[in-house]
Amino acid sequence: MDNQASELLEKIRQQYETSPYPRTPLEQSPKDDFNSLYIHNLVTSYYLRYQKVIDTEGKVILDAGCGSGWKSLILAEANPGAKIVGIDISEESVKLAQQRLKFHGFDNVEFHAISIYDLPSLGQEFDYINNDNMNYYTRFIGC
Ligand SMILES: C[S@@+](CC[C@H](N)C(=O)[O-])C[C@H]1O[C@@H](n2cnc3c(N)ncnc32)[C@H](O)[C@@H]1O
Repeated sequence: MDNQASELLEKIRQQYETSPYPRTPLEQSPKDDFNSLYIHNLVTSYYLRYQKVIDTEGKVILDAGCGSGWKSLILAEANPGAKIVGIDISEESVKLAQQRLKFHGFDNVEFHAISIYDLPSLGQEFDYINNDNMNYYTRFIGC
């Protein structure tokens, strides 16, 4: 990554460090948000692609650019038994995400304050990658 791209990434980090996104209250549950649960369910994507129904138990799901963890929570609710791994460059966002998942009783989760560029450092493989609302930035800095 060149200097200009690093500076831009640092500015993005600082922005989300002071204003983690989304501001959805910690205690809010997506359990009745059927559309979001449907969209973030591995079974849906897998069925659309392979016309097979899979079991979400034991699957590993990456939430890249997880922010304050609202989508990570939806992923956890929508995929029973799956492990959720969230990453984000903003430490504050990651802390909120950790608190959110804990509050809702999910312990098969891990969050890391790292950039998507450093993903290989986790040494993990994923069955499914969720990347909501981060594409603009990754495109802009040439990912
Ligand atoms: C608009 S928020 C989206 C949060 C969440 N995905 C959602 O849809 O609710 C974008 C997030 O991407 C993170 N982000 C931006 N560039 C990143 C990068 N290169 N690696 C990891 N996270 C990044 C930001 O810190 C921010 O929390």
